[in-house]
Amino acid sequence: MRTAKDFFRPLAVGAPQPPTEIPARPSRAIHFFDPSNAKMAAKIPAMVGTVDVLLGNLEDAIKADNKVAAREGLVRIAQETDFGPTQLWTRINSLDSPWVLDDLTTLVPAIGDKLDVIMVPKVQGAEDIHYVDRLLAQLEAKAGITTPILVHAILETARGVANIEEICGASPRMQGLSLGPADLAADRRMKTTRVGGGHPGYLVRQDPASSDQADIEAPRATYQQDLWHYTIARMVDACAMHGIYPYYGPFGDIADVVACEDQFRNAFLLGCVGTWSLHPKQIAIANRVFSPSVADIRHARRVVAAMGDGTGAVMLDGKMEDDASLKQCLVMVRLAEELAAIDPELKQQYDAIEVD
Ligand code: GLV
Ligand code: MG
Repeated sequence: MRTAKDFFRPLAVGAPQPPTEIPARPSRAIHFFDPSNAKMAAKIPAMVGTVDVLLGNLEDAIKADNKVAAREGLVRIAQETDFGPTQLWTRINSLDSPWVLDDLTTLVPAIGDKLDVIMVPKVQGAEDIHYVDRLLAQLEAKAGITTPILVHAILETARGVANIEEICGASPRMQGLSLGPADLAADRRMKTTRVGGGHPGYLVRQDPASSDQADIEAPRATYQQDLWHYTIARMVDACAMHGIYPYYGPFGDIADVVACEDQFRNAFLLGCVGTWSLHPKQIAIANRVFSPSVADIRHARRVVAAMGDGTGAVMLDGKMEDDASLKQCLVMVRLAEELAAIDPELKQQYDAIEVD
């Protein structure tokens, strides 16, 4: 057992003080790039400021032959680029892979002062976070890093889902969780073959008009269900409980921008703060979906104004508003303020809202 006192002590002599709070930095889109792909890498400097997070991916989707080139490419890009307001994250290889030790021992000394968050894939339990936590502290101490690098776990194994609360609480460095629907589906032996999103076979059907065979066989409305609802809901609760942030993950059907937007919006409404982007066109979708709409902010500000000192109840447009609906509106208003601080276009839209 680690006592409350020990929890915030550095895990290595000379390592920075672990954070007592994880700042709510806008991270609507975490845009993945392959640092071993010269064409993609060349575009990174111009993307600074256009997306909340740029993530150099070292894990899946990078061929084994390109692992070293990706690691070295990320070091080069990070050293040569001024990221300004954009966060730099990386996804390291999994903890049982032959590459992860070199990933960490190369990246931390070379670019540890520029890396905001390290995403750890296929996390199974608190022991995985403890390992990364101690190793990062040792490497930070050796490299003289003064701001602790945060850790983000991908939830993509059944054991990881079962251990979700202990993963979120395993280290003060824990920044958040992402859903890894592709690996999770495989690990759970789900019968899907996609990267995220829904499945037309996962549905409920309207009752038949009667139990006659003709009515049973007659066309009936069907409603597709969300395969990821359960897992995202668990992520949201575990993250909120620990003061860290939940994210949807990859949506592999790049062409289907409409279903992608739906999946992202479900995650946003349930409490996620952002998602992955696998293609530049998903950045715009994520920025739109994970920013409260002008209509929502207008309504939220009206409720805040009408509720005065925040207690009691008022009627607004025929609907009862009280302390609890005010709290929901404040979540939206605060998010809008955080986003307006880094997104001038959004700030203009929110500033132009008139509350009657
Ligand atoms: C992401 O890594 C996934 O497995 O979906
Ligand atoms: Mg995965």
